[in-house]
This record gives sequence, C-alpha cells and structure tokens, in this order.
Amino acid sequence: MIKVGIVTVSDKASRGERVDESGQVIREIITGMGAQVTHYIIVPDEVEQIKETLIKFSDLKGVDLILTTGGTGFAPRDWTPEATLDVVERIVPGIPEVMRAVSLTKTNRAMLSRAAAGIRGKTLIINLPGSARAVRECLEVILPALPHGMEMLK
Ligand code: MTE
Repeated sequence: MIKVGIVTVSDKASRGERVDESGQVIREIITGMGAQVTHYIIVPDEVEQIKETLIKFSDLKGVDLILTTGGTGFAPRDWTPEATLDVVERIVPGIPEVMRAVSLTKTNRAMLSRAAAGIRGKTLIINLPGSARAVRECLEVILPALPHGMEMLK
C-alpha cells in the first residue's frame, strides 16, 4: 500500500487561525483511492521547516508520496517550491506542467501556481496549490498516473 504524507504549508493554519480544509480534502481523496495517509503536519511558510519536514518524511519515515498544499503563489512568504527543489535529487516537471495545463481550462489563475515536483530517494514529492478547490482539481488529474510512477521508484 502506498504511504502518503500530507504537508500543509500555511502560517494561519499552523497558528490555529484557519481550518486546514485542503489537508482534509487530500486525506479524503487519498483514503478513497485505497492509499494510506501515514503522516500529516501543518507547518508555517518557513523554508527551513518545510525542508526539514520533507527530509524527515522521506528519509526517516519512509513515506512513498508527499503531497504539500499551499505556498506556491506569488505572496512574499510563498516558498514551498523552493524548499521542495532544495531537497529533491531529480525534478519531475511533467506533473506540475499537467496540473497547470488542465487547471487553466478552469481558471486562468492556474498559471500563478509555481508548484514543483521531484524525487528524493524513493519518495515522490508534489506541491499542490493552497485552496481546497485547487487541490481537488489537481489531484483528479495526476492521481491516475501515480501508481505506475510509484512502482518505478521501488
Ligand atoms: N489550480 C486549480 N486547479 N484551481 C485553482 O482554483 N488557484 C490558483 C492557482 N492554481 C487554482 C489553481 C491561484 S488563485 C493561485 S494564487 C495559485 O494556484 C497559487 O496558490 P497557493 O499560493 O495557495 O499555493
């Protein structure tokens, strides 16, 4: 069974000032497809904390797939893609390319997401945008291709 880690990147949610709706949407969808959410954390928009979490989940916890949500836009504290690119060994451009391409048919703001994806060891890390709607729309597009990708990583 695929082990999934959810990393919600949000200053407000980390302070308990906002409910992490997007993290819950990821959990529902992942559980619904028969994978297991083994780790879940909310972190503020701090590059070092994001990097530490991604490293911990992949190297120590053996998570197969890490899905982050939030921090991919243009706001001054949106640094999730940079944190991700700092810790991955191989980039996977096709996943964010497809998320943006398909999402553009729904909103032209899709081009504002700077989401990245890559591989660290045997772990695939994918950035999703922050809104619950965006998470749903992006996961719908990428999930069908992921089992084959995960299989190749073993
Ligand atoms: N992608 C999809 N599929 N649906 C959306 O509603 N919102 C966009 C974009 N990608 C959106 C989307 C918007 S408005 C922004 S600002 C960027 O994602 C970045 O979002 P983030 O900063 O919350 O990560």
